[in-house]
Amino acid sequence: MKMPTKIINYLLFTYLLSATMQTKAVELDVPYVETPPELVEIMMNIAEIGPDDHVIDLGTGDGRIVIAAGKRGATGVGIDLDPARITEAKQNAISEGVDDKLQFIEQDLFKSDLSEATVITLFLNEEVNLKLRPTLLKLKPGTKIVSHMFSMGDWQPIRYQQVVMNNNGNFFIHEVFYWEVPANN
Ligand SMILES: C[S@@+](CC[C@H](N)C(=O)[O-])C[C@H]1O[C@@H](n2cnc3c(N)ncnc32)[C@H](O)[C@@H]1O
Repeated sequence: MKMPTKIINYLLFTYLLSATMQTKAVELDVPYVETPPELVEIMMNIAEIGPDDHVIDLGTGDGRIVIAAGKRGATGVGIDLDPARITEAKQNAISEGVDDKLQFIEQDLFKSDLSEATVITLFLNEEVNLKLRPTLLKLKPGTKIVSHMFSMGDWQPIRYQQVVMNNNGNFFIHEVFYWEVPANN
């Protein structure tokens, strides 16, 4: 028996509607923007990242920061709420030969366990940094925190670097901030 076209169309419509409704909407606190490679290197250098470090990269994007840390012998975890970014970061870690040192987790950075970090890396925004600040201040004294572009309000960095970059004739000032969690805070 042939099914009438109207019924087929209705079934197709309800199927597509339910598939759309099931698609998880990801509400990001910060949109995806890449840190230029030169700045990634500055972040590595300013925090003196090496084989003894365990880096937790909040809002990892394509994983470039934690992958650079892995290339210096560090272990690390890249966290991002966007599943597409996590897939991309995992593939990039494999292509760069550091996937054995790194883990990528689809998770909200505000709900992540940061306690094992020796370094936290950030390229988020000022508001998110300020919201994270109380959590960061509770980490082990000496934990290194590096942020591309955004400060932590009145928490003064102990190292700071500015870089002017020329993007097709448009000049941008990039900033890198470095803090260490103080003892007894
Ligand atoms: C500005 S991009 C930085 C990407 C990468 N770290 C870099 O520097 O090239 C910010 C990243 O944070 C992620 N993100 C935004 N809100 C988040 C949240 N609440 N938890 C985890 N990741 C989040 C976005 O998906 C995006 O990949």
